[in-house]
Amino acid sequence: MHSQPYRTLIEPFRIKSVEPIRLSTPEEREVWLEQAGFNLFALHAEQVIIDLLTDSGTGAMSAEQWAALQRGDESYAGSPSFHRFEQAVKDLFPFKHVIPTHQGRAAEKILMSAIGGPGKVIPNNTHFDTTRANIEHTGARAVDLPGRQAMDPRSSHPFKGDMDIDALAAILREEGQSVPAVFVTVTNNSGGGQPVSLENLRRVRGLCDEHGIPLFLDGCRFAENAWFIRKREEGQQDRSVTEIVREMGSLADGMTMSAKKDGLANIGGWLAMNDDDLAADCKRMLILTEGFPTYGGLAGRDLEAIAQGLTEVVQHDYLRYRVRSAEYLGEALLAAGVPIVQPAGGHAVYLDARELLPHIPPLSYPGQALAIELYREGGVRGCEIGTVMFGLQPDGKEAPASQELVRLAIPRRVYTQSHVDYVAEVVQRVANRATEMRGYRIVDSPPVLRHFTARFAPL
Ligand code: F0G
Repeated sequence: MHSQPYRTLIEPFRIKSVEPIRLSTPEEREVWLEQAGFNLFALHAEQVIIDLLTDSGTGAMSAEQWAALQRGDESYAGSPSFHRFEQAVKDLFPFKHVIPTHQGRAAEKILMSAIGGPGKVIPNNTHFDTTRANIEHTGARAVDLPGRQAMDPRSSHPFKGDMDIDALAAILREEGQSVPAVFVTVTNNSGGGQPVSLENLRRVRGLCDEHGIPLFLDGCRFAENAWFIRKREEGQQDRSVTEIVREMGSLADGMTMSAKKDGLANIGGWLAMNDDDLAADCKRMLILTEGFPTYGGLAGRDLEAIAQGLTEVVQHDYLRYRVRSAEYLGEALLAAGVPIVQPAGGHAVYLDARELLPHIPPLSYPGQALAIELYREGGVRGCEIGTVMFGLQPDGKEAPASQELVRLAIPRRVYTQSHVDYVAEVVQRVANRATEMRGYRIVDSPPVLRHFTARFAPL
């Protein structure tokens, strides 16, 4: 455990290059909100003061990463930058084949086109939306099997990302021959950024072995997950994060990865596996859609940034600060009486709009109302994860989502403690006038993925 005597945990970096934040007034933001049709995705980023829309590709690179860019070798085939990237991935995840892709969903698309198809079933603790969409696009069925502990936003269970082992056993017993792979997402983004324990991964592995089915990790936030294991799982306190990550990898047969998260890069991803035939299939598809297997849709310099990022993301000082930032925001909000999904996730804090705004019914979009109000109040941009995002059914009808959340995702190494203090103040002020807030209606909506482009009007 960390034994420093100070209450203040400092950012373990100093700043070499700054980006100005344009401070705006509530009057300006009101105009911009109207212009954006009350959809925060339609804002210009300069109109945002603190941008917590996503932690994906929005992190700050280190001086060593910027230096590595200069070393980037742009050879079409056999670039040394690819070999450095491959080695850096294998140092953590010793899979036989490492296939670079331009981001996580490209790895998903390629893998699912090889293993999916009508009649197939692919379980996960919770599929991220692009994973689910790529599975369904092949005609296969995506099944979420979160554990019961994940259902209660107030439960502070240490591993709310764990998969429901009994439910997995039942699916494998009944439909095992239709399951081409089992997935586990670390951390479980759609379930609140909650970690998966080693114990749970071992049990999933055991079931996969019984049925001869490969296990894949969606590894986007593998380092944050490993840090939680080190902090929370019995007997893991004396191990390094690198060792824990290697064990997580050794329990799987392959992985998909978005390097825009725990690759500490602005773009990139990979697909990795041990199976030679599957790798050959995937590389054929890669050449069609991404590029030659030694660059996979990336520039050589991007491969270098990821290779260096992977050596930084497992450092304990970084992870202690990283996970503490979200926890610190969560504590401030709880102390102010703002309902959140507990405990705070590794990369984000999720506000519970259903609980904060019980007077706004699901089809008047309480999460959207809350997200808009945070922007109006303080220029803070979060992301609705509720009925706007999930309420539209394939038949065109609407149904309430299971939760009404607003995710405040924290970009890596970008904001300081005073930025986080400011966000807590903004949320608190908005929460204080919760009873005055009204819902919204949708005035214009595309048939799919409506949260990106729908336009809203206040009720
Ligand atoms: N898997 C998980 C768990 C993710 O969180 C994401 C992206 C992906 C796969 C897809 O990766 O964006 O590189 O194609 N999540 C981002 C987010 C977009 O905001 O949570 P990608």
